[in-house]
Amino acid sequence: MRTLSVKGRVYPTDLNHNGGVFGGWIMGKMDKAASIAVDEILKSGAVTVSVTDLHFKEPVSNGDIFYIYTEIVKIGRSSIVINVDFKIRSIVEENELSEIKSVVDAKFTFVAVENKKSVAICDVLRPDASKDIIEMAYIGKHTKKGTNPK
Ligand SMILES: CC(C)(COP(=O)(O)OP(=O)(O)OC[C@H]1O[C@@H](n2cnc3c(N)ncnc32)[C@H](O)[C@@H]1OP(=O)(O)O)[C@@H](O)C(=O)NCCC(=O)NCCS
Repeated sequence: MRTLSVKGRVYPTDLNHNGGVFGGWIMGKMDKAASIAVDEILKSGAVTVSVTDLHFKEPVSNGDIFYIYTEIVKIGRSSIVINVDFKIRSIVEENELSEIKSVVDAKFTFVAVENKKSVAICDVLRPDASKDIIEMAYIGKHTKKGTNPK
């Protein structure tokens, strides 16, 4: 299920010397949004192991309001793949807000960990995880270790 995980606004301190937003700043926000999506389903810790398919499609500017949507799309034995979509609305003429549009997206992979070692997602799922997540975790449980779906 797609969820709004983080919402905020771009301020002048987030800008680079050309007046645009640092790509790394956006990536950091997306990583945090993905970690919230993961923390909502796991009782254990989790770490980022990979970011792929990262696309900066349009610039982000000072004053833009951002919305970071996350969706857990795959679960392996110990890994979780999350699609992260960074959307914005800009302030346009006469204080109107533009349409919301997707400007950056990426795929984040997190691994559930305990004592710095990977653990099976099934063993650390929160009891209130949704039916879809429980199903994905049980399918993932039967995948061979290291065959994480990328
Ligand atoms: C995460 C970590 C504990 C895994 O170590 P490990 O237990 O030896 O790793 P495994 O070989 O069992 O792999 C664990 C899972 O990660 C997946 N994985 C590992 N590297 C990956 C990569 N680059 N991309 C996608 N998946 C990857 C594996 O496919 C496996 O998935 P599965 O269990 O669902 O099949 C270790 O790699 C680590 O600590 N990395 C650093 C993480 C970090 O510091 N991140 C930045 C800050 S949060």
